[in-house]
Amino acid sequence: MEKINVAIDGPAGAGKSSISKEVAKKLGYIYVDTGAMYRAVGLKFLDKSIEENDAEFIKSLNETTVDIKYTDGVQHIFLDGEDVSALIRTQKVSQMASDVSKIGLVREKLLSLQKNLAKNNDCIMDGRDIGTTILPDAKVKIFLTASAEERAKRRCKDLENSGQSADYETVLNEIIIRDKNDSERKISPLKMADDAILVDTSHISYEESVNTIYNIIIDKIN
Ligand code: DC
Repeated sequence: MEKINVAIDGPAGAGKSSISKEVAKKLGYIYVDTGAMYRAVGLKFLDKSIEENDAEFIKSLNETTVDIKYTDGVQHIFLDGEDVSALIRTQKVSQMASDVSKIGLVREKLLSLQKNLAKNNDCIMDGRDIGTTILPDAKVKIFLTASAEERAKRRCKDLENSGQSADYETVLNEIIIRDKNDSERKISPLKMADDAILVDTSHISYEESVNTIYNIIIDKIN
């Protein structure tokens, strides 16, 4: 039977992953966080200056393995056989993930992994180019966004809740840079698919966002 695929795209910090995770659980689908795959590649090349056409880089990328496994429904990301799920959530890795995601060879490498997961599972897949490039025929496409200021506020709160210090202006600036990087790159930029439904969470709570997305999906698949 054909699998049900839901594509959720949007800028960094819009709440895609926490909302997608919760909605996927309610629906009994797997949640595929494609950002984690770019983060794994970013981690591999952290602190290295990478040149797209450099033979050394191409060789190293070809030898790199990125894999996703699920334990009790929770996604774990493996880089060269090692579970790096906890190591990829730093600001440095975020920036590097954004940098490596501009490289065509990196995108090609991750594309088949993403397509295969969608082919074999009912899933909610989140990222930047899922509705436009990876799953153009997804049954449901959602573009989830919020203002940069609201996203920065939420990010600061998350950082503070996890005991880290957060400077609002710095966080806002990082968000603006990443938005620009992700939406202005040449290959598969962050872009709303023509047939996606726009959900702006700037003025709605997390619970309302979850319900909105859940209801859109239920509506579309029935
Ligand atoms: O969703 P995230 O913040 O974990 O993603 C990290 C980076 O990976 C993001 O800045 C851009 C890139 N990315 C991408 O180019 N395409 C995707 N489908 C997902 C993420």
